[in-house]
Amino acid sequence: MAEVAGLLDTGERLDVDALRALQLERLRASLRHAYDNVPFYRRSLDKAGVRPDDCRSLADLARFPFTTKADLRESYPYGMFAVPRHHVRRIHASSGTTGQPTVVGYTENDLSMWADMVARSIRAAGGRPGDTVHVAYGYGLFTGGLGAHYGAERLGCTVVPASGGMTARQVQLIRDLEPAVIMVTPSYMLTLLDEFERQGVDPRGTSLRVGVFGAEPWTEEMRREIEERCAIDAVDLYGLSEVIGPGVAQECVETKDGLHIWEDHFLPEVVDPVTGEVLPEGEKGELVFTSLTKEAMPVIRYRTRDLTRLLPGTARVFRRMEKVTGRSDDMVILRGVNLFPTQVEEIVLRTPGVAPHFQLRLTREGRLDALTVRAEARPDAGPEVREAAARSIRAAVKDGIGVSADVEIVEPESLERSVGKIRRIVDLRPR
Ligand code: DLL
Repeated sequence: MAEVAGLLDTGERLDVDALRALQLERLRASLRHAYDNVPFYRRSLDKAGVRPDDCRSLADLARFPFTTKADLRESYPYGMFAVPRHHVRRIHASSGTTGQPTVVGYTENDLSMWADMVARSIRAAGGRPGDTVHVAYGYGLFTGGLGAHYGAERLGCTVVPASGGMTARQVQLIRDLEPAVIMVTPSYMLTLLDEFERQGVDPRGTSLRVGVFGAEPWTEEMRREIEERCAIDAVDLYGLSEVIGPGVAQECVETKDGLHIWEDHFLPEVVDPVTGEVLPEGEKGELVFTSLTKEAMPVIRYRTRDLTRLLPGTARVFRRMEKVTGRSDDMVILRGVNLFPTQVEEIVLRTPGVAPHFQLRLTREGRLDALTVRAEARPDAGPEVREAAARSIRAAVKDGIGVSADVEIVEPESLERSVGKIRRIVDLRPR
């Protein structure tokens, strides 16, 4: 711990009282900035009958209206910007799977704050100045690649900007350039590990020490799978484009107990997804963020649709969020039962004889929706092992989640591999 304490930045050294005071001061300024410069926020606050000055305590934020993805979409492309266009240095777009993308913008100061937050994240994950960092998050409009890149540089690391794809070459680069840190989606990490093994190289023998994995939900079972297969510390990195990108919250390697939210810049709330009521610490609901220092695109009470709970800080003064197990959009409702792909991930990864690759296929039989779990056999699994695996997954889905699913154990290497964010659900139901 002494070694870590020496590396903390100014924000991380605040005590709780100083942190809350700083948050309130920044919150008031941020509300004012949004209200004065974004017509959308002026209308939305006016409609709710609140003014920025009505926020006299952090609890007062609950009186302010929410902002949703739909609001951002309706303001496409530049309607949410709070600064003149020539002050915007960078544009990213969120990975909107449905409909119009949402555009986000950054001023020079925003980019610098973002780099600071990702640098802080990599350090909390166990990266150190001088380390080589292999970035296999996609570069481009997605915030993963460039976000990780500038954060690693800010920390004083050497960056290998590999981006996603060309898996065989990625493995070669890792073997040759000897990075200590890899930043990639957990699902693509599995693809890389398979490739190591295909090339006959034991991934436990690489230079890698730390993996900073995020951009999609992943489970403790997946952490164990990755850590065992390549002998690294696997830690969780969370973020979303609308708030900044990666670097909103990060798990500390010394505790691996959920993600510390960098709440000197991003103020979290957890609300009841239906009523919008703010929930007390420890209760699960929808995560909501208000930016405290963003210039180009401040967000007020942005509904992430990610489900989690807030917890007190441990390794840092900041509050933690529990690992995100899913977002409301990924929830499948099957005959009245809610199901998240991560629940199936937990089951598949515990089952002997199957590889950690699976897919959920939704079909409709008559009026009823049906679920098939497709999981890949391990190469050495014979027919009996496969049958036992299918039975065991079926029973665990029935007992643990409460739905009946068909289970197909498919041939090794037959399911589509991730090169970035994986899509677990294949929806074949007629529209
Ligand atoms: O995924 C930013 C990011 C890049 C985070 C690289 C971490 C690493 P978007 O494309 O806007 O931004 O997607 C944001 O992805 O609302 C969550 O649903 C999901 N997500 C991101 N990180 C995690 C995580 C980036 N660690 C959306 N665990 C978010 C679970 C995550 N879900």
